[in-house]
Amino acid sequence: MYKLAIFVSGRGSNLKAIYSEIEKGNITAEISAVISNKLECDALNFAKANNIQTFIVSDSPKNQVTISYDKLQNILVNFGVDLIILAGFLKKIPNAFVKKFSGKIINIHPALLPSFGGKGMYGMNVHEAVFNSSIKHSGATIHFVDEIYDNGKIIIQESVDISDVKSPTEIAERVLKIEHKLLPYVVKKFSENKVRIVNNNIFIDN
Ligand code: GRF
Repeated sequence: MYKLAIFVSGRGSNLKAIYSEIEKGNITAEISAVISNKLECDALNFAKANNIQTFIVSDSPKNQVTISYDKLQNILVNFGVDLIILAGFLKKIPNAFVKKFSGKIINIHPALLPSFGGKGMYGMNVHEAVFNSSIKHSGATIHFVDEIYDNGKIIIQESVDISDVKSPTEIAERVLKIEHKLLPYVVKKFSENKVRIVNNNIFIDN
């Protein structure tokens, strides 16, 4: 079975979107672990309620329930995790961890990279910057994770017209709808081994 580890920090709507497609039988995979930097958040509660193993990770674990990235790395290797998904994970992943799972970590970003990405560009900060720029399209990007924020190769993007929006919240709502479609789609393609890198470009087979 194709194995997923999903990193979360908050609401967990993208986690739920993936989970729901697995439950419906549209993706043949299992969520082996949900990992958070937070001791508590809705995404973790969802995972626990659905009997998914959860872990709390930190650069400098200070209590019994928190583990280091080194320890987490071993756990995920032992689980045989095939794909790591950052779905609203708000901390930067240490370089050594990224290197270890190079080509196996993806992130979803709520804008059309390479615009509106980088340090500090998360959550509503992104949508506020997009709104204030008066740009007419936003969207979602799924990309590989490398050592630099929002910098890895782009796997897929979808855009949405925002020329008539009246607030950053409206942009967030439109983009989130795309995210919930795009992320399960890409996870499915990875699980079917249909994501290929050719000449430095990424292609998704039908
Ligand atoms: C999403 O907009 C995602 O693109 C961004 O953080 C948000 C997470 O939302 N990285 P949720 O926790 O999946 O509901």
